[in-house]
Amino acid sequence: MAKKPLNVGMVGYGFMGRTHSNAFSQVNHFFDVPFRPVLKATCARDAAKAKAFAEQWGYESIETDWRKLVERKDIDVIDIASPNDTHHEIAIAAAKAGKMVMCEKPLGRSAKESRQMVDAVEKAKVPNMVWYNYRRVPSVTLAKQLIDEGKLGRIFHYRAKFLQDWTISKDLPQGGQGLWRLDVDVAGSGVTGDLLAHCIDTALWLNGGITKVSGMTETFIKERHHNITGKTETVGIDDASLFLARFANGSLASFEATRYARGHKALYTFEINGENASIFWDLHDLHRLQYFDHRDEGRTRGWRSLHITDGDHPYMDKWWVPGLQIGYEHTFIHQVADFLGAVGGGKAAAPTFRDALATDLVTDAVLRSAKTGLWESANG
Ligand SMILES: NC(=O)c1ccc[n+]([C@@H]2O[C@H](COP(=O)([O-])OP(=O)(O)OC[C@H]3O[C@@H](n4cnc5c(N)ncnc54)[C@H](O)[C@@H]3O)[C@@H](O)[C@H]2O)c1
Repeated sequence: MAKKPLNVGMVGYGFMGRTHSNAFSQVNHFFDVPFRPVLKATCARDAAKAKAFAEQWGYESIETDWRKLVERKDIDVIDIASPNDTHHEIAIAAAKAGKMVMCEKPLGRSAKESRQMVDAVEKAKVPNMVWYNYRRVPSVTLAKQLIDEGKLGRIFHYRAKFLQDWTISKDLPQGGQGLWRLDVDVAGSGVTGDLLAHCIDTALWLNGGITKVSGMTETFIKERHHNITGKTETVGIDDASLFLARFANGSLASFEATRYARGHKALYTFEINGENASIFWDLHDLHRLQYFDHRDEGRTRGWRSLHITDGDHPYMDKWWVPGLQIGYEHTFIHQVADFLGAVGGGKAAAPTFRDALATDLVTDAVLRSAKTGLWESANG
């Protein structure tokens, strides 16, 4: 059956611009979904760079002002793949124009911004989704299935970390292309909104709501040259962020993110301990899920390393043959497939803006707690 075209207008041509463009281009090759994404227009401020990107990825046209993109009658979905300070304004304008909105994480620079974005998409009744792509790693989706089936039993502990090492040099500037993550006005926060947001989204999905947190942050390098102002300026982001949390289901948690863990590039791991079983996942080994089940026969009981590549594993029947693994880019393809399937079926595509607001309420509480030194409510 002919698929309905879905015209995509994407803002930003950086790291995420590439992963999203790849996902829109690949989805129909592997998934049976009711729409065919059409790369209608890409938008960035530099026309020459936007044109080069459009040619490389097959976009039909370019815009240099996102407002023009949002106004275009031939665009069905606005995809926001630009830095955090652009999300709020673009998403609200897109919703008002009646477009579907896909937005990169974190949804807003603060829960206040995110709440306004939620109000806009819900008022306009437009499909919306946030690109928390780690939910769509097949091994992480399997973890969700195992937990929902009750395999772990009562959950006692959730432990997550996301470690990097790319900002250790004091000579690294802040601001501008590639370095906007160090500029608090653009990013909103440091590793809390950038890295912990991923850990929190996965945790809320797997283990339910977080009620309260006690956080601690540090900015190791206090001043850096600013690429846009040309001056040495105070660094406003958190370089490292750790917090303890209580979940509504009674489990206890610890979370850590830093860009100062020498030797680690993107070490995202989580472990969940339940009364019957435990699971452990590591982004660097993303096609595996480590699983321990206390109910196994004693003599052969131990941690099992599950290779998540078989046809009965989530998403894997759409890929190659059992035993052959997939990688990072596939998580974005899965997310587009799920979005298109949900829109076709008139359902919400998770994580919605409202789901992502829950993450921002937690990150806000962590930053608040780091300032006050007190336990803070994560319910807003
Ligand atoms: N889901 C994930 O795992 C993941 C990973 C990386 C980044 N992100 C998120 O994706 C977003 C983009 O990050 P990135 O790493 O791709 O950044 P990037 O710096 O690689 O690219 C950002 C792009 O946005 C463009 N841009 C900036 N301001 C703009 C404006 N006003 N109008 C139009 N274009 C503009 C830049 O020219 C650039 O092409 C951020 O919100 C980030 O937090 C998510």
